[in-house]
Amino acid sequence: MTDTAPILFFDSGVGGLSVVAPTLALLPRAPIVYAADSAGFPYGTRSEADIAARVPALLGRLVERYRPRLVVIACNTASTIALPAVRAALDLPVVGTVPAIKPASAMSATRVIGVLGTEATVRQPYVDDLAARFAGDCTVLRHGSAALVELAEGALEGRAPAPDAVAAELHGLFGQPGGERIDVIVNACTHFPLLEGDMIAVAPPHVRFVDGGPGIARRIAYLTEGQAWPDAPPAHRLVFTRLDARERRIANGLAARGFAAAEAL
Ligand code: DGL
Repeated sequence: MTDTAPILFFDSGVGGLSVVAPTLALLPRAPIVYAADSAGFPYGTRSEADIAARVPALLGRLVERYRPRLVVIACNTASTIALPAVRAALDLPVVGTVPAIKPASAMSATRVIGVLGTEATVRQPYVDDLAARFAGDCTVLRHGSAALVELAEGALEGRAPAPDAVAAELHGLFGQPGGERIDVIVNACTHFPLLEGDMIAVAPPHVRFVDGGPGIARRIAYLTEGQAWPDAPPAHRLVFTRLDARERRIANGLAARGFAAAEAL
């Protein structure tokens, strides 16, 4: 492996940037390839079969092209459905994204936790399993929101989300029976931490938010411990499976964060 071998982050859209940020905080010299499956976006409203077929094939092509040292599936939907298949198909370490139910359980005083993800993620048996293993004495309420995913994408294109629209999505949790007792919300979609400030602004003041980003960053640092990095990393690369005007607007916004012009897969 060369010093310049990148870490490949994969998501349906821009959500994985919420995992890139804590990773670069720990590994500032790591070269990043950020790949967004814009042609397949959004994942949250797709079927399990669709995601299970799509994600391993795409990651195979990306690995062949970019030769990363490590792959990060920075997407809860893809991870909860396709992580074992991706690991079986690739001959390199693959880090997935897991809804942060365990840390949420450690934080909750009321023992009522909200899990906010995509519709596909919140219906996964994997989430039932995490809730049973790590939050067995908690009520775990779930809400799948495609609207928040769109709002996060829009924010990266420069459109600030309307507070009412964000509040309406949180009501999907708080409006459920027992929802008024929620004191921790798990951002179980990587897009949602990008809107955390907007959510805090409209949520009751005692509610705290948690996501998997910092834990994934620590895992990446652990798996790459002792590996060499370039002294001056090249510009990070940005790859889209469909490269239209929308993706170019996002890419323009990301230039300030050290990303080169967008490429098409
Ligand atoms: N960012 C993704 C996740 O973590 C998926 C968003 C979508 O494409 O629906 O689940």
